[in-house]
Amino acid sequence: MTNVDIPNLTAFDEAALEQAFAALAKEASDDAAALTNPAAVEAFRLQWLGRKQGRLNEVSARWLKAAPSEAKKSLGQRFNALKKHVEELLEAGAGAGSTWSDSALAAEAIDITLPGTQRLLGAEHPITRTLNEITQVFAALGYSVGGGPEVETDYYNFECMNFPPGHPARDTQDTLVIANQERRPLRDRLLLRTHTSPVQMRTMESQPPPVRIIIPGKVHRNDAQDATHSPIFHQVEGLCVDTNITFSDLKGTLDHAMKALFGSSVKTRFFPSFFPFTEPSADVQISCIFCGGKGCRKCKQSGWIELLGCGMVDPAVFAFAAQKQPAYDPRKISGFAFGMGVERIAMMKYGISEIGQFYAGDMRFLGQFA
Ligand code: DAH
Repeated sequence: MTNVDIPNLTAFDEAALEQAFAALAKEASDDAAALTNPAAVEAFRLQWLGRKQGRLNEVSARWLKAAPSEAKKSLGQRFNALKKHVEELLEAGAGAGSTWSDSALAAEAIDITLPGTQRLLGAEHPITRTLNEITQVFAALGYSVGGGPEVETDYYNFECMNFPPGHPARDTQDTLVIANQERRPLRDRLLLRTHTSPVQMRTMESQPPPVRIIIPGKVHRNDAQDATHSPIFHQVEGLCVDTNITFSDLKGTLDHAMKALFGSSVKTRFFPSFFPFTEPSADVQISCIFCGGKGCRKCKQSGWIELLGCGMVDPAVFAFAAQKQPAYDPRKISGFAFGMGVERIAMMKYGISEIGQFYAGDMRFLGQFA
């Protein structure tokens, strides 16, 4: 029913008014008798009393306004009576809960034994979680946490980290470079950092020694994706510079960190390696966490798993830092640095065999870390 069905009144004598208002009052009563639930009561209210589309509003607009002045008084009284009638019906209807039929009640009832609406709690992504775990291990040793830009210059990513010209890591095979920078000097050209090591230099340039800092962050390489490689991944860089820092400090620190991360029974060993920015350099291996060092498929029967790179900061790197902070004089201070891949550590800790799982956004995977 719409308010359009309020007809225009043609006669305004008492008999005509009596008939017209009686018809509306009956209609309202009939409508009200059919109300069975709160939604219907509300619809009734809107239909009759609604400010814009309500039928009474329409009666007022069509009849009161069109009435000759001698009929206005009677019409107004009848209008007020009708309005009161509708309001009483509404009140009775609103309280009609007690008179509703059982089936109407049943339809409205809430089964409080049903499980409620489940709102999923968010959880830390396994990469974030691993980053935080690593961060906490070093924070407990007094390290601060730093960061640096992901879009880096050739100078910070390579040159000051002592990558000689022609070093294979500078090759665009590995490095994603920003296009159209040929006119810039090489050192200013932008690229996506291939490691977090440039933040070592940014840190030293901004503060004199002593420094103890770790730098978690995202890095990029032009690697094809496979089970263990992804063009975007995460590293945690570490740097410690002070007077009399030795290789023993490096070994002790990383041995402690690996035990804190993988369990106190884990052993570490250091293998000679090469990185341009450390001398000497080492690869750190931990005893296989899957077989305890006996030899299994995971460790290729060797009993050891290679986990990170490290070394004593090369004096050439200190010399670059000393251009801005003279206190990095390699004759007076020394230090060590290390860098680890977060995905690799997370994969080992949580038994994940596909690196792509971290980035696929599959709730079945991510939900396991909730
Ligand atoms: N930046 C190296 C990489 O991406 C990792 C690394 C090795 C960092 C040795 C270091 C380090 O600080 O001392 O492969």
